Amino acid sequence: MKSPLDDALTSINLEASYKDANIALIHGDCRDILKKIPATKNVVIISDPPYGIKWVHNSNPRPIIGDDAPFDPSHLLGFKCVLFGGQHYHTYLPLLGSWIIWDKRCSHKGGRKACNIGPCHTNHIGDYEDIWLSFHAHRTIFRNYWDGWIKATESGIKRIHPTQKPVALMRWLIESYTTPEDLIIDPYAGSCATLLAARSLGRYAIGIELDAQYIAPSVDRLSTPLECPILSKL
Ligand SMILES: C[S@@+](CC[C@H](N)C(=O)[O-])C[C@H]1O[C@@H](n2cnc3c(N)ncnc32)[C@H](O)[C@@H]1O
Repeated sequence: MKSPLDDALTSINLEASYKDANIALIHGDCRDILKKIPATKNVVIISDPPYGIKWVHNSNPRPIIGDDAPFDPSHLLGFKCVLFGGQHYHTYLPLLGSWIIWDKRCSHKGGRKACNIGPCHTNHIGDYEDIWLSFHAHRTIFRNYWDGWIKATESGIKRIHPTQKPVALMRWLIESYTTPEDLIIDPYAGSCATLLAARSLGRYAIGIELDAQYIAPSVDRLSTPLECPILSKL
């Protein structure tokens, strides 16, 4: 019997930039590719799309594709969804659903000296991120100190994307909101944190990324064992 991954790749009918038994990365436009995947109950989108906020950082002056215009998530809403940044495009979201929070504050007590990472309880851009779920769920908070430029829970791991998410966070979302039978899709894959998380749990997942500049570094990342202290503790 074919795996849910192989079934979906047959429907997509495009060569994967990376593939193993659990995960695949496709270089392309998710608005076209998602049309080829039936929105069955076992397909779950977990993704961090461009929010439409024209976000740039001086360490990466190249804009994120799609971030220059309001984000319309209509092409995702036929699927079960877990979406970051929903507050930026909430007018497009159905009223049904739930919101959860990624608390990015440091939990160390004793301030900067004790923490040795930076001022405790602060992040450069914001202390939390909203995550919208297309289904009813317990309103909850996941705590994982990050501060995008410090990457506290992946300290020492090479950063390859300006809005890279922690693998531990993506792992928690997968464990909380999917089942082992599900196919997880991250249509805005970036650094492929979702794919790494899925594979570490033995789950099936497809990532789609439009910007060619992230494909080769992501293929490297997916091909190399992730040396990450926090992940080895999970
Ligand atoms: C906010 S970033 C996601 C970063 C990701 N969460 C990570 O951990 O690295 C959004 C990504 O979506 C990509 N993107 C934008 N429009 C796209 C499209 N139509 N299809 C596929 N990828 C797209 C951008 O190039 C960018 O890498």
